[in-house]
Amino acid sequence: MAYNLKNCVTAMIGCFLFILLVLPSSYAFLCEESTDCHALLKFKEGLRSDPKGHLQTWNKANPFCNWTGITCHPHLQNRVVDLELIDMDLRGGISPFISNISLLTTLSLQGNRFYGKIPSSLGGLSELAFLNVSKNNLEGNIPGSLHGCQSLKVVDLNYNNLSGIIPKELSWMKNLTYLCLSQNRLTGVLPSSLSNLTELTQLEPAVNYFTGKIPPQLGALRKLEILYLHRNFLEGSVPTAISNCTALREISLTGNLLSGEIPLELGAKLQNLQKLYMIDNNLSGKIPVTLSNLSQLTLLDLSLNNLEGKFLQSWEC
Ligand SMILES: *[C@@H]1O[C@H](CO)[C@@H](O)[C@H](O)[C@H]1NC(C)=O
Ligand SMILES: *[C@@H]1O[C@H](CO)[C@@H](O)[C@H](O)[C@H]1NC(C)=O
Ligand SMILES: *[C@@H]1O[C@H](CO)[C@@H](O)[C@H](O)[C@H]1NC(C)=O
Ligand SMILES: *[C@@H]1O[C@H](CO)[C@@H](O)[C@H](O)[C@H]1NC(C)=O
Ligand SMILES: *[C@@H]1O[C@H](CO)[C@@H](O)[C@H](O)[C@H]1NC(C)=O
Ligand SMILES: *[C@@H]1O[C@H](CO)[C@@H](O)[C@H](O)[C@H]1NC(C)=O
Ligand SMILES: *[C@@H]1O[C@H](CO)[C@@H](O)[C@H](O)[C@H]1NC(C)=O
Ligand SMILES: *[C@@H]1O[C@H](CO)[C@@H](O)[C@H](O)[C@H]1NC(C)=O
Ligand SMILES: *[C@@H]1O[C@H](CO)[C@@H](O)[C@H](O)[C@H]1NC(C)=O
Repeated sequence: MAYNLKNCVTAMIGCFLFILLVLPSSYAFLCEESTDCHALLKFKEGLRSDPKGHLQTWNKANPFCNWTGITCHPHLQNRVVDLELIDMDLRGGISPFISNISLLTTLSLQGNRFYGKIPSSLGGLSELAFLNVSKNNLEGNIPGSLHGCQSLKVVDLNYNNLSGIIPKELSWMKNLTYLCLSQNRLTGVLPSSLSNLTELTQLEPAVNYFTGKIPPQLGALRKLEILYLHRNFLEGSVPTAISNCTALREISLTGNLLSGEIPLELGAKLQNLQKLYMIDNNLSGKIPVTLSNLSQLTLLDLSLNNLEGKFLQSWEC
C-alpha cells in the first residue's frame, strides 16, 4: 500500500515535471488553450490557396504571436490585436471565426483574392477600429451588423463585388471617419441618414449603381474633405447645401445624370477646394464666376455638360 502510494506520488511528480519542462517548448498546448489561436487556424483553414507560402509560419511549432501578419498586444500575453495580410495573393473565404479574436483592432486583408461574403459575425468585434478589405472579390451585402463594431473609424470596401443597398445601420456608426465603397455593384439611394456621420472626412460611394438625388443633408458633414460620387446614376441638381461642407478639398461628380445649374455658393464658400470634377453630366446655365475666387483650386473640369462661359475644358494650374 505504502509502496504503491510512493510509486503513485513519484509518477505524479514525473508527470508534473513532464508538463513543466516538455510541453511549453512544444507550444501546442498554448495554441489549443487560446481562442485567438484557434480562430487563426480556422481562418487559415478557410483559405484555398497561398501560392507564395506566406502563411507557412502559421503552424503550432511557432508561437502564434510570431506568425506572419499577426501583432499581439504589447502587455496582454498572447492576445492578437492586428491581422494584416496585404497583397499576398491569398484566395479563400473570410472565416466567421475571425470574430472570436475579441481584441482585434486592425483587420487589413486588402489586395488578395478573398471571395464570398463579409461575415456578419465581424460585428462582434467591439475593438475593431480599422477595416480594409479593398481589392478582393467579396460579394453579397454589406452586413448591417457592422454597427456592432463601436470603435470602427475606417471602413474601406473599395474594389469588390458587393451588392445590395447601404444598410441603415451604417448611419449609426458615428465614429466613422472613412467610408469607402467605390467600385462595387451597390444599388439604391444614398441615404440621407449618412448625414449622421459627422466625423466623416472621406466619403466614397463612387462607381456603383446608386440612383436618386444627392441628399442635401450631406451639408451637415462639416469635416468632410473628400466626396467621390462619380460614375453612378445620380440625378437632380447639385444641392446648394454641399457648400456647407467647408472642409471639402475634392469633389467628383463625374459621370452621373445631374442637371440644373452649379450653385454659386460652391465657389463662394468652399475655400479649401482643390479639385472639382463634374464632367459628363447634364449641367446647364452659366459657370459661376465665384469659382475663379477659389485660391486653392488646381483642377477644375466641367466638360461634357451644357454649360456656358469660361473654363469649359479641363483647366489646370
Ligand atoms: C519570435 O520572434 C522574435 C523576433 O522575430 C524572436 O526573437 C523569438 O525568438 C521568436 N520566438 C520564438 C519562440 O520563435
Ligand atoms: C468562434 O466563432 C465561431 C463562428 O463564428 C463560433 O461557432 C464559435 O462558437 C466561436 N467560439 C469559439 C470559442 O471558438
Ligand atoms: C486600403 O488598402 C488599399 C490597397 O492597399 C489602399 O490603397 C487604401 O489606401 C487603404 N485604405 C485606407 C483607408 O487606408
Ligand atoms: C464612439 O467611440 C467611443 C469611444 O471610442 C465609444 O464610447 C462610443 O460608443 C462610440 N460611438 C458609437 C456610436 O459607436
Ligand atoms: C460578381 O458577382 C456576380 C453575381 O453576384 C457574378 O455573376 C460575377 O461574376 C461576379 N464578378 C466577379 C468579377 O467575380
Ligand atoms: C441620426 O442621429 C440621431 C441622433 O443621434 C438619431 O436620433 C437618428 O435615429 C439617427 N438617424 C438615423 C437614420 O440613423
Ligand atoms: C447649410 O447652411 C445654411 C446656412 O448656414 C443653413 O440654413 C442650412 O440649414 C445648412 N444646411 C445643412 C444641410 O447643413
Ligand atoms: C438635360 O437637361 C435639359 C434641361 O436643362 C433637359 O431638357 C434634358 O431633357 C436633359 N437631358 C437629359 C439626358 O437628362
Ligand atoms: C471673392 O472672395 C472675396 C473675399 O473672400 C469676396 O469678398 C468676394 O465677394 C468674392 N467674389 C466672388 C465673385 O465670389
